[in-house]
Amino acid sequence: MSLALNLFHATELEAHTLGEGALRGAELASMLASGTGDIKERLKRLLADPAGQRALFASLRAFAPNLATDKTLITAYPCNGTVIVSRADDVREVLDRQDDFEVVYEPKMRKITGGVNFFLGMQDDADYQRDTSIMRLAAQRGDVADIVVPQAREAARQIITHHSKTIDLPQVLTTVVPALMVQRYFGIDTASVEDLREWATAMFWYLFVDLQGDPDIEKKALDCAARCLVAIDAAIAKAEANADGPVTVLKRAIALRDAGTGGFEGSGIRNNMIGLVIGAIPTISKACVQALDGLLDRPDVLARTQAAAASSDEHAVGCAVFEALRFNPVNPVIYRRAARDCEIASGTTHACRVKKDTMVLASNLSAMFDPAAVDDPDAFRMDRPWNVYMLWGYGLHRCFGDVINRGIIPALLTPLLAGTPLARAGGDAGHPDKVTPFPQHFTVMR
Ligand code: HEM
Repeated sequence: MSLALNLFHATELEAHTLGEGALRGAELASMLASGTGDIKERLKRLLADPAGQRALFASLRAFAPNLATDKTLITAYPCNGTVIVSRADDVREVLDRQDDFEVVYEPKMRKITGGVNFFLGMQDDADYQRDTSIMRLAAQRGDVADIVVPQAREAARQIITHHSKTIDLPQVLTTVVPALMVQRYFGIDTASVEDLREWATAMFWYLFVDLQGDPDIEKKALDCAARCLVAIDAAIAKAEANADGPVTVLKRAIALRDAGTGGFEGSGIRNNMIGLVIGAIPTISKACVQALDGLLDRPDVLARTQAAAASSDEHAVGCAVFEALRFNPVNPVIYRRAARDCEIASGTTHACRVKKDTMVLASNLSAMFDPAAVDDPDAFRMDRPWNVYMLWGYGLHRCFGDVINRGIIPALLTPLLAGTPLARAGGDAGHPDKVTPFPQHFTVMR
């Protein structure tokens, strides 16, 4: 890879950052030197491994905090060149500067809905503010404690009761509970759990993970989108015909529309509901799998977390689970495109000029390990302040489901963790599979 490095002089680095970088540089070199295959294969393996990613970002934070290359790494969206941003302050700066660094998802969002944009694909404009305001009235924060968490807790408890010994987590638990949330709380009860997880996974993969624009991935996602939109239309018709029964996001959106006070018109409800469906299932499942994988790697932490689960302390379970996710988050990087020529970290020694249309990869994983922002970042600690965690974005487009995630993930994992010591199944089955970007199998034993 020919890199036009934006390196700055080592003597200008803070001593502790340089120390960390040098240490991790050595770690990185030894990771690259070991194993089989040529350097490209070794680098690929290293980047697929969260420990390798952390070592790489530590070196970048120290030696090239804003690494610019004329190579275009993301070809699924129009752009030209790449900057990788690794320091916490700079990651926040990029994600805060909506006018300079725009979200790119609009064309794919329009393909998913068959024409209309969804708010994650919008810049900070009137449409964004209107759509998110309506959706915040339809999906209210208090629902998490009143509806989402109790439903998830009960669903997980029942699943665990029926799978007491060996559990293939994504198949049986971690995709099922969020899909049930989509049916029962969102109100899309016209599709099966199996269909919802297949559709949401295909669409999420297309929108956020397929950075090279693979036509097969697009085709599958658009087929799934068409089927999902039919199911959502059927759920809307069903809810319109019968407004009684438990509260759902869909029923609230319909009531807002019918009140004539500025709710969604036309296909607005449908297009916003599909946006929520896409975000909810593969993400929560992958987060649960990666968090558990991290706990299983740390037997002492696992034992403490299981003790907390045994006393139904979901808060303590959450502290362990979110810390495990810090080491291996679902999205290690958030990407934006420069809307104009501009500069990151102006006035510092590592200021970086960014040309219009450059794709800027802001690493939330790296930000969560930046010693300038996080105390003792390499230590696994369960008492970290919540604002250390950048697990689902930052700034304007921070995940719409952030409060849901914080509640549902511990609620669905606690029944699994409460009980006999958890262990991996033997062989490959006991590790999350990597056949797709979303683990399909990961078997544990109780
Ligand atoms: C652990 C689970 C989840 C993860 C890791 C996750 C990750 C993310 C990330 C990284 C973003 C920001 C994308 C960007 O700035 O480019 C985001 C935004 C979003 N997420 Fe999530 N998400 C999760 C769960 C959910 C759930 C449960 C929902 C539905 C309730 C959801 C709906 C959304 C929506 C609608 C946005 C766009 C927000 C906006 O543009 O203002 N996500 N998510």
